[in-house]
Amino acid sequence: MSMNTYRIAAINGDGVGHEIVPAAIELLKHGADLFGFGLNFETFPYGAGHYKETGNFMPAGALEQLAEYDAILFGAVGLPEVDDSLPFKEFTNAIRTAFKQYVNYRPVRLFDGLDSPLRSKTSKDIDFVIIRENNEGEFVQSGATVYPERPEGLATDTSIFTRAGIERVAHYSFQLARRRRGHLTNVTKSNTLIYTLGYWDKVIGEVSREYPEVTYRKMYVDAASANFVLHPEYFDVILTTNMIGDILSDLGGAIMGSLGLGGSGNINPGREYPSMFEPIHGSAPDIAGKNTANPIGQFWSASLMLEHLGERKAADELFDAINRTTAGGILTPDLGGNATTEQVKEAVLESLVKKERV
Ligand code: NAI
Ligand code: MG
Repeated sequence: MSMNTYRIAAINGDGVGHEIVPAAIELLKHGADLFGFGLNFETFPYGAGHYKETGNFMPAGALEQLAEYDAILFGAVGLPEVDDSLPFKEFTNAIRTAFKQYVNYRPVRLFDGLDSPLRSKTSKDIDFVIIRENNEGEFVQSGATVYPERPEGLATDTSIFTRAGIERVAHYSFQLARRRRGHLTNVTKSNTLIYTLGYWDKVIGEVSREYPEVTYRKMYVDAASANFVLHPEYFDVILTTNMIGDILSDLGGAIMGSLGLGGSGNINPGREYPSMFEPIHGSAPDIAGKNTANPIGQFWSASLMLEHLGERKAADELFDAINRTTAGGILTPDLGGNATTEQVKEAVLESLVKKERV
């Protein structure tokens, strides 16, 4: 039997990325051995550190080179001493748009053994996926600053929503809902953003009629934020815009117990380009280099990468090994524990290999 081998581009980025990405690679390599497929990693030193040395977040030709890989495993970019308007523009968004990763897949679930700030809720109540439209909307960076120093100074940012852009992410989301519990919530703000989000609602409403087996409803973002805390069990698949999804997924991270837990995929569903898997948090410079970063968001991203590659069994086993580790109380300081990044990795690894309860 021939063995599937995948080529993965690994990009630590900056800050805690240098700790959590190598830990995830080690886990993935063990997973590949256990489940009978191959993973070849190549590491690229891109990010704000690279910018400090060379003047660029990534060199010319980097996108063409990355396009050759089956997937990209990424940490986070950004350093306190580098202009913080650059990481998104020059790196993250450049990859997300060049590779048409128009779906940003951001699951939220409560791991076993963790107390959510919503203490009466369990892992049965908190288990949903945020699908953030990832290529257009509020973050297209189409705008201008006019006479900023004068009394009449002004600035604009224009949101752009296209029918094609809304339809493709809507189809992805309804199909995902069909595979999960069959509920889709469109989180919107069309009562105030009447043109763009009015159109967003209209097009999603049209797509919804093609999926009669999925229950479709609309919820305004203000009410949705309250429901994240009061009734997270309402949600199965959330479909929302680029900016609303960015904000709500940090709230999702918070109700899981820490930003350090959230994994994500920037997904090109048509697979013409590689998809990119990264934790939802940033480079956390305040804790970088201390071996205390929570690696679980990176590990969960690694599990989502395996699922995307078609290695479903390995993906599920990796997720379960993470869940057994939290259940066993091996937690980094952000979760009130005193385990190091390294110790969490070792525990997940041991659980993955042994497949027994820790
Ligand atoms: P952040 O997500 O890096 O940190 C926010 C807070 O969460 C900090 O207190 C941090 O210690 C904590 N935290 C984050 N990840 C953690 C982990 N794995 N384990 C334990 N605690 C963790 O957000 P912040 O501070 O706003 O941004 C820092 C830098 O990261 C900036 O340069 C920003 O632009 C960049 N950033 C990059 C992103 C990306 O590359 N996709 C996304 C978000 C921010
Ligand atoms: Mg964010």
